[in-house]
Amino acid sequence: RGKRAFIAGVADDNGYGWAIAKQLAAAGAEILLGTWVPALNIFESSLRRGKFDESRILPDGSLMEITKVYPLDAVFDNPDDVPEDIKSNKRYLGSSKWTVKEVAESVKEDFGSIDILVHSLANGPEVVKPLMETSRYGYLAAISASSYSFISLLQHFAPIMNPGGASISLTYIASERIIPGYGGGMSSAKAALESDTRVLAFEAGRKHRLRVNTISAGPLRSRAAKAIGFIDMMIDYSSANAPLPKELSAEEVGNVAAFLASPLASAITGSVVYVDNGLNAMGVGV
Ligand code: NAI
Repeated sequence: RGKRAFIAGVADDNGYGWAIAKQLAAAGAEILLGTWVPALNIFESSLRRGKFDESRILPDGSLMEITKVYPLDAVFDNPDDVPEDIKSNKRYLGSSKWTVKEVAESVKEDFGSIDILVHSLANGPEVVKPLMETSRYGYLAAISASSYSFISLLQHFAPIMNPGGASISLTYIASERIIPGYGGGMSSAKAALESDTRVLAFEAGRKHRLRVNTISAGPLRSRAAKAIGFIDMMIDYSSANAPLPKELSAEEVGNVAAFLASPLASAITGSVVYVDNGLNAMGVGV
């Protein structure tokens, strides 16, 4: 039986989530996506109109099939959490059942179970502000969207994940080294995500026989990264200073995600796996 994957955080064909979906599809997995509610319409209409067809081409020449796209807002766990202004927001009115609990219930209803859970989402409203200037609201919002969202997804999906299943998130080295410009509490959010990867590996491993890992990825010119504003500089810095002086492709991260989700990685859990051309190993720039 082929494996089934749910990938949260895909709204175009430029980010890590899309690349991970592709490599999982190439390895034979069935693909379900969770797309942020405000981005859902444009993503689905672009898919329908064939805008992503070139990016959907798999190594064997076939097109990646996306079995279903679920609306998702991972900062809300259940309908009681949703404030009035979001409920009545016109970008949310057209969709329903997009809180984490409801999405897990819908996936269970539609498919029964999954094998692979991918968290490829982050948001920090004050990411361009230095940590020293970050508000309490901005900091907690970064943690909510970028760290707790993973706990919530695993909490709600673990009961429908088959034993031997795997979950993967995406993190960034700003959690452990100073990266000026990655502000708003996003560095803190990634530190939390990495620590939670270890604790959740223990809890989900003992309770559900699931594995929990995170990929510390190098810089990619995704939509989210462009919003931070320093992505071209980070890409140039990496090419100039990393042991492998080449641009990182999203596909390279997708490949490692496919490995981590496979039985080849059956003894790897609680790990932060670097996919960054080795930049993390450098002590000084050259
Ligand atoms: P992306 O823009 O492709 O993905 C981020 C996704 O998160 C978007 O699709 C957005 O709609 C979604 N999202 C935001 N808030 C959400 C919410 N409340 N509920 C559901 N979805 C929500 O960008 P990228 O860069 O591929 O990001 C994926 C992951 O990779 C993130 O965790 C990011 O921090 C991480 N990462 C990115 C790096 C880069 O240089 N691009 C480097 C290292 C890690």
